[in-house]
Amino acid sequence: MLIISPLLVFLVLGTAVPSAWSKLHFKFRGLPYFDSLPVLKSRHHSMALCCNSPAPRQVIDPMISQRQPLYFTETDIEVDAKLSTVELILKYGFPAETHYVDTTDGYKLCMHRIPRQGARPVLLVHGLMSSSASWVQLGPNSGLAYLLYLKGYDVWMLNTRGNIYSRDHVNRNLPDSQYWDFSYHEIGTYDLPASVDAIIDKTGQQQIQYIGHSQGSTAFFVMCSERAEYAKKVSLMQSLSPTVYLRENRSPVLKFLGLFRGGFTMLIQLLGGFQVSLHTPLIQQFNKHICSLSESTSRICAIFEYIICGFNWHGFNQTLVPIIVGHSSQGASAKQILHYAQQQGQMAFQRYDYGGVLNLLRYKSLLPPLYNLSLAQSNVHLYYGAGDWLGSSKDASQLQNFLPNCIGNTKIASDSFSHFDFTISMDVRTLVYDQVINQCERY
Ligand SMILES: *[C@@H]1O[C@H](CO)[C@@H](O)[C@H](O)[C@H]1NC(C)=O
Ligand SMILES: *[C@@H]1O[C@H](CO)[C@@H](O)[C@H](O)[C@H]1NC(C)=O
Repeated sequence: MLIISPLLVFLVLGTAVPSAWSKLHFKFRGLPYFDSLPVLKSRHHSMALCCNSPAPRQVIDPMISQRQPLYFTETDIEVDAKLSTVELILKYGFPAETHYVDTTDGYKLCMHRIPRQGARPVLLVHGLMSSSASWVQLGPNSGLAYLLYLKGYDVWMLNTRGNIYSRDHVNRNLPDSQYWDFSYHEIGTYDLPASVDAIIDKTGQQQIQYIGHSQGSTAFFVMCSERAEYAKKVSLMQSLSPTVYLRENRSPVLKFLGLFRGGFTMLIQLLGGFQVSLHTPLIQQFNKHICSLSESTSRICAIFEYIICGFNWHGFNQTLVPIIVGHSSQGASAKQILHYAQQQGQMAFQRYDYGGVLNLLRYKSLLPPLYNLSLAQSNVHLYYGAGDWLGSSKDASQLQNFLPNCIGNTKIASDSFSHFDFTISMDVRTLVYDQVINQCERY
């Protein structure tokens, strides 16, 4: 049944099931699908995107935040949807810098910074398919990066490998199948250590603070397990939707994909290629889970990550749809999604499962090795939402039990608070960020 039911759904989805596996294999070895947004097509223009910011305008003193308009005008909404992270920051009168970091496995990452020399550095790491823009898109009154800067922090924002700002590799001829061969394992093992080191190096500070949303949290715990010395470089880690144990996962897409353990070729077919295609028929089949008929005309209802992670229609300001859409779906690999799909329904936080034989070759064991959470020695504060498909209170408690220095486990005071509400809710400042900043002040 376990094998038959996904096959049935597969047929129902209307995706052609090729007559033989060999055909499929041939197809994907040679020609992965890369039919996503035009802007996502080239891996090699991200540096340009990262750098091409307009000449800085005169920077007003943002400490006087009262001058910031409380609301977006119609023009703001239209314009902000198209601006890059740096352009957004400059537009609102804050200073912005771009820094490049190479990982030891050759990925070139772009970090954005709202610099405050000599101040305590805090690193913000976005979630699945997002970018540094998730910390500024709500504007100076609700964007966490601005709020932290105004409190006196030196704010750094990472763009993890594969998103539109970080899509280069030292080997420009690396085939796409190899470039996109990563999950949050590699983000935790390579991207995070490289960016932590870059901040410590540039600022001369001994320790940093860390705030991660979704995958930005998952990858942090991977980093601590694989590169334990980095836990000591982080005095406080605040986890917005920890996304480590997904035993109570409520995402229909992850449940569905979770049935395919090991069937990588078929999964690649479903997701549209090594780089996830945003127009995969799979996602269209599931969008009714986040949108009712009356809402289904909104562009939100076609956004990959909202369909996977869930969406709270009443939590965000619907006037801002263009901004949110404009900064969504910033790139992901199929393997990132599959690693989460493997994790769902399980009580194990472990490395990517290649299937028995391949696991033996890679890991010298039939099952993937578990990540060792007792190595996450940093102080950790967890925040979870009751309406988050990827995080229940049980999953958060479970994580808390495994962490050696968990200093808090907070349920957000709103029953429907969902996965992306941590970055787009209209009440995110009062519900989450004020607490997060208070916690920062204590470390
Ligand atoms: C939604 O955002 C618009 C533009 O910033 C603003 O005018 C409106 O008052 C907001 N609505 C709510 C409910 O916050
Ligand atoms: C996890 O790390 C702790 C602390 O170093 C160590 O004592 C323990 O043996 C490790 N567990 C596993 C399963 O490797």
